[in-house]
Amino acid sequence: MQVLDQTTSHTDDLNLYASHAWRHSTVVAGVHWKNPVGTASGTFQYAAVRNFYDVSQLGAVSTKGVSPEPWEGNPGVRTAEAPAGTVNAVGLQNPGVDAYLEDELPKLKAIDATVVTNVAGHSDDEYAEVVSKLEDSDADMLEINVSCPNVTAGGISVGTDPQALSRLITRLRKLTTKPMVVKLTPNVTDITVIAKAAVEAGADALSMINTLLGMRINIRTGEPIIANITGGLSGPAVFPVGLACVYRVRTALPDTPIIGIGGIDSGEKALEYLYAGANAVEVGGAALLDPLAPLRVARELELLLDERPELSAKLAKGESWR
Ligand SMILES: Cc1cc2nc3c(=O)[nH]c(=O)nc-3n(C[C@H](O)[C@H](O)[C@H](O)COP(=O)(O)O)c2cc1C
Repeated sequence: MQVLDQTTSHTDDLNLYASHAWRHSTVVAGVHWKNPVGTASGTFQYAAVRNFYDVSQLGAVSTKGVSPEPWEGNPGVRTAEAPAGTVNAVGLQNPGVDAYLEDELPKLKAIDATVVTNVAGHSDDEYAEVVSKLEDSDADMLEINVSCPNVTAGGISVGTDPQALSRLITRLRKLTTKPMVVKLTPNVTDITVIAKAAVEAGADALSMINTLLGMRINIRTGEPIIANITGGLSGPAVFPVGLACVYRVRTALPDTPIIGIGGIDSGEKALEYLYAGANAVEVGGAALLDPLAPLRVARELELLLDERPELSAKLAKGESWR
């Protein structure tokens, strides 16, 4: 086995609390990000982190998926440890789109954050209702989470069926002029088939990956640990999976903006995603261990981009490395 040391610089002395002038920006579907690092949906909440750091410093913030009505999410136990990751079945708990429009979104826009509003639904009608309500909002981009079980698609998630996905995205495209990112699930045989269906139906950009299907069992009882039985695996364990998905979709769709997600906890890992063909990245579960992780990753990536002017220039123009 080849041991690859990807460590490139010592960044322990970064002062994440000082105000900072970013040197490397990116553009995703026409939207300017002040740096290429955002937060991943469900792992960021403004109220929880605003006292830790200046959230407006991030490239973008993707907020928790919003649905037409408030959802309580799944019963506990909702999370379980996994080797190099976490399995969660939080179940899209959120206060509903109206509360989001009154509370979290205005607060984020008041500090000049670039906001990617993540949209959830249990049916095509629910997605349509949320997207319609967001059309007149200040959200900069919409990110459609197509991993939720969908009754219109017979209970499966539309992200696993190209026809169901095409039907949903075609419908949503008519309801919004905002840049629409479709967030892909890795739980499919060929992610490029799903990616093409999303883009042909009107997606402006793609983000990937959502969590991988996983579970844990309590060997004292023989029963699943998580009440929902299965959940979604995130964290360092999924990093190579996300990277391969980005690379394969980039090869299949050379011109579609891609946001890379999965297991990113350092500037080096973010850089691998950019070299795989992503235009930007989002940091997820790492922020649950360390709230400052997205900002630290952005600063570490900045030092790496200082040494890579060709990559930096491409990102600033809305282009990708490959
Ligand atoms: C607790 C938790 C909640 C999440 N909620 C959402 C969500 O509401 N919408 C969504 O699109 N993805 C959600 N995700 C998936 C993450 O945004 C991300 O795609 C995934 O965790 C992989 O990235 P990571 O390995 O960096 O965590 C959630 C993940 C976690 C761990």
